[in-house]
Amino acid sequence: MNYYIKTYGCQMNVHESEKIANILVELGYQECTDMSTADIIVFNTCCIRGTAEDKIKAHIGEVKHIKKANPNLIVAVCGCMSQQEGVAQSLLNRFPFINIVLGTTNLHLLKERIAQVKNSKRYANTDYCHHAELESYRTSTPNGWVNIIYGCNNYCTYCIVPHVRGREQSRQEDNIVDEVTQLLENGYKEITLLGQNVNSYGKDLNDGSSFAGLLNRLAELPYRYRLRFITSHPKDLSDEVIDAIARHDNICKSIHLPVQSGSTDILRRMNRRYTREDYIALVDRIRASIPNVGITSDIMVGFPNETEQDFFDTLDLVNRVRFSSLFCFIYSRRKGTPAYSMDNQVSIEVKRDRIKRLITTQNIITNQVSQEYHGKVYEILVEDRNDKYDNTYCGRTDCGRLVNFGCDTDLIGQFVNVRIRKSASATLWGDLVMDG
Ligand code: SAH
Ligand code: SF4
Ligand code: F3S
Repeated sequence: MNYYIKTYGCQMNVHESEKIANILVELGYQECTDMSTADIIVFNTCCIRGTAEDKIKAHIGEVKHIKKANPNLIVAVCGCMSQQEGVAQSLLNRFPFINIVLGTTNLHLLKERIAQVKNSKRYANTDYCHHAELESYRTSTPNGWVNIIYGCNNYCTYCIVPHVRGREQSRQEDNIVDEVTQLLENGYKEITLLGQNVNSYGKDLNDGSSFAGLLNRLAELPYRYRLRFITSHPKDLSDEVIDAIARHDNICKSIHLPVQSGSTDILRRMNRRYTREDYIALVDRIRASIPNVGITSDIMVGFPNETEQDFFDTLDLVNRVRFSSLFCFIYSRRKGTPAYSMDNQVSIEVKRDRIKRLITTQNIITNQVSQEYHGKVYEILVEDRNDKYDNTYCGRTDCGRLVNFGCDTDLIGQFVNVRIRKSASATLWGDLVMDG
């Protein structure tokens, strides 16, 4: 019996697909790479932007002919898209071949539902539940993802995530430490802690747990490994967290700190709860405490009411802060969010023009920042082979830069030193530096 999981969206979903895979493996399925040979297909969905949803619906539609050829095929849809108001039912109506729909907190039901489908019924469960502690089937060595907090309480006015992921739920600190220890025992060399806003970790537990406390505890585990985390909300990144990163060599000097806009007025309309000046001051504090830190960000253009002046403020912030890389998005109206019904929505032409200018501005900075690496030696954790080139491997610096280098032995999972020779946009190329 074969399974095929198609994952969309953020790292949270990538990791949740590992939990889905574990359920399927326990049921005796094995992974296949060709969807048409699957006995069960799971779509782990995202609805952050309209474009994501359109693409997923088109992909689900393509399963129709596979189901025709194999009527016993089980089709399941889970993740953020299914959790939206009314969507589970509309998916079942539109795609009669879907057997199971599960919301973001219902994964623990998958096993039972698969058994029931075999009696030919169709199921949809999207009621919010407490997150179960589920095991993961991981193939991502040397990097392991570990969830520390689910959901989000921030309610940024454009964002669907709090509506589909529910309120914040932190995992117990001991459970996290046990999971990380287990991974390190099994040879994992890098752990990435996941949450929509990791800095909120522990607040809902009311037992004194905090993100800084968790970082300090994990960083002191007696293993040679690297610790990363995503994502940080600028309003919650505390001095204690900055201090924890600065003090521990094994906490990566890399912070993803989405700013969203460089205009204080737009930030207020987005309910981000910081100003442009707060953000710039925070970046200055981080850089003063953590030399060589890599700061990356997300920015959205075309939020309702964004004027040309607001957009200039964004470009100006980008030029001042000089992110090591930047994810740029066109604002997408999400039903059920406050920004959906705001006046002065921006036209698609203006949005496209602004994103082009933003990307051009960042590309110049990315190239300049990359050149600063040339000639220097960095420690890289070798993560994978780069199949596009012969005898080429890749990994990251601790500040998060992707580095390719030539090598004819498999060094995946090892820490090596690489001297940077050239760069292409955000990607660096280098040569192994031998010890001694
Ligand atoms: N929790 C993370 C972000 C999760 S979504 C945080 O708060 O930083 C990832 C990114 O998608 C966001 O940072 C934002 O830039 C973008 N995004 C979210 N909602 C969007 C929307 N409606 N339209 C376009 N981009 C959006
Ligand atoms: Fe969305 Fe804002 Fe929460 Fe991030 S912090 S998930 S952008 S509501
Ligand atoms: Fe998408 Fe859900 Fe992540 S909407 S970005 S998969 S939290």
